[in-house]
Amino acid sequence: MISKRIKKVPPSGIREFFDLVLGMPEVISLGVGEPDFITPWRIREKAITALEEGLTSYTSNQGLLSLRKGITNLLEKKYSLKYNPEDETLITVGVSEGMDLAIRAIIEPGDKVIVVTPYYVAYPALVEICCGKVIYLPTKEGDGFKINLGKLKSLLSQNPKAIILNYPCNPTGITYNRKELNQIWNILSKKDIVVISDETYDELNYDKAHVPFSSLNRKAKKKTILLNGFSKGYAMTGFRVGFACGDKEIISAMTKIHSYSMLCGPIISQIAAVEALRARKEIGQMQKEYKDRRNFIVKEFNRLGLSTVKPQGAFYCFSSVKKYKISALDFAKKLLLQEKVAVVPGTAFGEEFNSYIRISYANSLENLREAAARIERFLSKL
Ligand SMILES: Cc1ncc(COP(=O)(O)O)c(C=O)c1O
Repeated sequence: MISKRIKKVPPSGIREFFDLVLGMPEVISLGVGEPDFITPWRIREKAITALEEGLTSYTSNQGLLSLRKGITNLLEKKYSLKYNPEDETLITVGVSEGMDLAIRAIIEPGDKVIVVTPYYVAYPALVEICCGKVIYLPTKEGDGFKINLGKLKSLLSQNPKAIILNYPCNPTGITYNRKELNQIWNILSKKDIVVISDETYDELNYDKAHVPFSSLNRKAKKKTILLNGFSKGYAMTGFRVGFACGDKEIISAMTKIHSYSMLCGPIISQIAAVEALRARKEIGQMQKEYKDRRNFIVKEFNRLGLSTVKPQGAFYCFSSVKKYKISALDFAKKLLLQEKVAVVPGTAFGEEFNSYIRISYANSLENLREAAARIERFLSKL
């Protein structure tokens, strides 16, 4: 019954591994990419009030105009980036739906899409589901997991239709400054290529201000589909709200698909998201906590010989287990069974990352301290 194309798509490496964790007591999970914070109260309260007032209908396909206006106002305030809320902005069901729509709107069967490795697990799968062809652009620890410009240039000779960028990055936490982004754009601008820029973690940037790809210049803006959402920075994963901003032709095509497949995002979540845009103090408090955790975990891991490039954003680090001459999967399985600490094997983010593990520090400092002590004990017995 199932199409060959779907059969070929592998299940998510993260989910597969975490099925092992389910039901194991006392596990400290550094696995899932989800904030450990509950959505700030003022946001939840708005959702409750909306329900009490009986706001339970569909919204327009594009989403509540008040939310679209709130988003474009914030983008202008933070990044001097202007999008029209009327026809250049679409509310999606998380960045997940935004990514799916962006790929479906632009890809013809056989079109090539560049995916930078290590990648967020959904990218290759979504391209393949859409009958596109993934071409990988590998990065390595020695380059700080940043895009190698020479390699990027050489891949462009294959005439890809699009490239998916993600910064701050899941799983490495690295990000790019304006100079680096301009260098990437200078190469991409030589070709007719769409940039799908997943900036889900823009609020979780610890050292320098985030620079949206579409803010580089007018041409880059026209070629870029900016994807973002409320799941991570606002601790609203379960609300399922994201947004896409871009050229009106692309947004209109994405809206067409969305209007048939999804109709609209949930109204309660959209109302809550309007409030989230005003909750700057609460967002700032979470950012500060993540930064303290990042500083702790990077120092600890490097001390333990798990070499870790300092992540500048998101809430992950991608650490090397090479020194211990063990595969990522064995490391993760043994650590889970012996010390009850769950991490994700790097191979979930690209098959060449067999000496890396991803850890998520979206967990309390107390748990991170305990996890680090357990990992130290585990390493001493390896
Ligand atoms: C890079 C990246 N993009 C997209 C998503 C999906 O986010 P959403 O909850 O907005 O669908 C995630 C979730 O882990 C992510 O890490």
